[in-house]
Amino acid sequence: MSSSTHARQEAVSGAMVVFGASGDLARRKLFPALYALEKQDRFAKNFEVIGFGRTPMTDEQFRGRAEEALRQYAHLSPDEKAWNRFTRRLHYQEGRYDDLDSLRALKDRVENVGDPGGCGCLLYYLAVPPQVSETLLDQMRRLDMGSDFPAEGSPRLLFEKPFGLGLDDARRLNERLGRLFAESQVYRIDHYLAKDTVQNLLVLRFGNLILEPLWNRHYIDNVQITAAEDIGLEGRGGYYDSAGVVRDMLQNHVLQVLALVAMEPPVAGRAESVRDRKVDVFRSLSSLRDEDFVLGQYDGYLEEPDVADDSTTPTFAAVRLNIDNWRWQGVPFFLRAGKRLAAKVTEVVVCFKEVPACVLGGPEPCAVPPNALVIRIQPDEGVRLRFATKVPGYEDRVTPTHLDFRYASLGKALPEAYERVLLECLRGDPALFWRSDAIEEAWKAVTPLLESSRDREEARLLTYAPGTWGPSKAADLLRRRGRTWLTDGAAPAGTG
Ligand code: BG6
Repeated sequence: MSSSTHARQEAVSGAMVVFGASGDLARRKLFPALYALEKQDRFAKNFEVIGFGRTPMTDEQFRGRAEEALRQYAHLSPDEKAWNRFTRRLHYQEGRYDDLDSLRALKDRVENVGDPGGCGCLLYYLAVPPQVSETLLDQMRRLDMGSDFPAEGSPRLLFEKPFGLGLDDARRLNERLGRLFAESQVYRIDHYLAKDTVQNLLVLRFGNLILEPLWNRHYIDNVQITAAEDIGLEGRGGYYDSAGVVRDMLQNHVLQVLALVAMEPPVAGRAESVRDRKVDVFRSLSSLRDEDFVLGQYDGYLEEPDVADDSTTPTFAAVRLNIDNWRWQGVPFFLRAGKRLAAKVTEVVVCFKEVPACVLGGPEPCAVPPNALVIRIQPDEGVRLRFATKVPGYEDRVTPTHLDFRYASLGKALPEAYERVLLECLRGDPALFWRSDAIEEAWKAVTPLLESSRDREEARLLTYAPGTWGPSKAADLLRRRGRTWLTDGAAPAGTG
């Protein structure tokens, strides 16, 4: 076994401080992910978790909360041994994010747990809104918390999304961070990057020979990326109403998928090169004009708890983007995301051009749709290629058929993205996280949407019925050249 493989398999030691530990995100995502890692024996004996939050709680109460969260969200079989190990790691410190005394008390606690003298890492996880992050960073700087626990690359900072509420915020946050930490210590989460099916985009493109020669403007007509959800706000109205679909999904998850689809090949064996090539894509995005996007809000949104009566927050966005470079000039990329849509599906559809001429005789032999490669990120994960086939018989008739791969056929469960996010950060591998320059470029790209949705009139915010594919105008973005969203009404990968 190579030493790097060995390092990757070593159990993690040190401490993790969770800011926002009494919040919703910790309950839904963090505790289940940490517990799953515990069950996989990923933590050394001396790994501790210290929650920090405004809700007054003892360690015991904090453990009780974690247990409740696991019951509700973990979907893991109970394991008494693992649970006992896990619960002993949990501690809690009550306090306000702007209060130096509370943070000093936290600092003291950190010094007394974990493995300060050893090789373990200290991780600060910020599961708090962007406004709170700024205050917190200022206070951490005052207390010199950047130099706590000085193992190599430690402490690390793990940021929840959204990273700021727009370009100005992100720049300010990056600048504040730069005063306290090196970029290599900062990890900005995008859990889509930790999905196996998203990582597979690179393998599909660069681990195979047959796609790359066609992966350009000579053969591809358009690319469609859909991240649709059938659920609504699920009690997250307070957060969502200040974020909306652009900050919640488009600026981060959808743009990351776009970058992986569109980027140039990275330098072999250099993870940083993947991040470089992704930034190139963001820098090549053409500026969005009003006619390039449609924003919508589902009917009933204004009645959701914690949503303002006159909210102009979009819950749906569809965008037509151009990438101004040699590979993609003239190929439109259509992106869309939204809540309360017809289905939960995240999918990339690469639509190839039509064949240049029909060579088969008979009536309308070419009247089959052109090739399409459908990469299903979730659910029913898989890859499906549509191609033309002759209908058996004496006539020259052609029909579309499919080559189909489904992850389910591999017989291995796909890991939970949040587990991977935490583990990679604790191990100090930044490949699956946003870099500061990329995040600023991504904010730049969506700024016209954010500016437009400030004012209801100007926003052209269209209402759509829940359970549909959003405002019908979203289809007009494609229709001009006879294109349609291929995901709508399509059977899930592998069926039909
Ligand atoms: C989160 C958003 O980042 O991603 C949620 O805040 C959204 O609103 C979720 O529901 C979707 O993630 P997934 O993994 O279920 O597609």
